[in-house]
Amino acid sequence: MTGTERAAHLSRAIESAIAAAPNADSAMKQTVALLKDGVPRYTWVGIYLLDGNELVLGPYVGKPSPHSRIPLGRGICGAAAAEKATIVVDDVNADPRYLACSIETRSEIVVPIMQGANVLGEIDIDSDRPAAFGRPDRELLEPIASLLAERLSED
Ligand code: SME
Repeated sequence: MTGTERAAHLSRAIESAIAAAPNADSAMKQTVALLKDGVPRYTWVGIYLLDGNELVLGPYVGKPSPHSRIPLGRGICGAAAAEKATIVVDDVNADPRYLACSIETRSEIVVPIMQGANVLGEIDIDSDRPAAFGRPDRELLEPIASLLAERLSED
């Protein structure tokens, strides 16, 4: 299988899991597990949910993070929520916004989960490889964020 085929296969598996999940919490848990298992360069995969002015860590796979609550505007996570746009950081150590989760982390992608103009949360993925994220990751993750937004809005 090519990388594109693998991504399409993973994307279909996650779409099915989100659709079949009994509730949003289960949909989020299955999504982080499938992403972590499906893409070896994804070292840490988690979902933050917006609660007032803070992002609160929900389901994740990887080492425990010291950042279980992140105020809006802090960190790369807070920046993505404030900008309402995906942020890719090729070298986290060169980005002054970065809040360290693990010393091994080298790059990060944060994809907001949006319902219309409202941020519900975000998918946050770290990699131990520098510059691990690019267009294929956005193309995989942004539609998944939209599907999660639908499930989160239902509950
Ligand atoms: N690196 C994030 C904090 C969350 S940990 O990566 C899990 C940030 O800068 O917002």
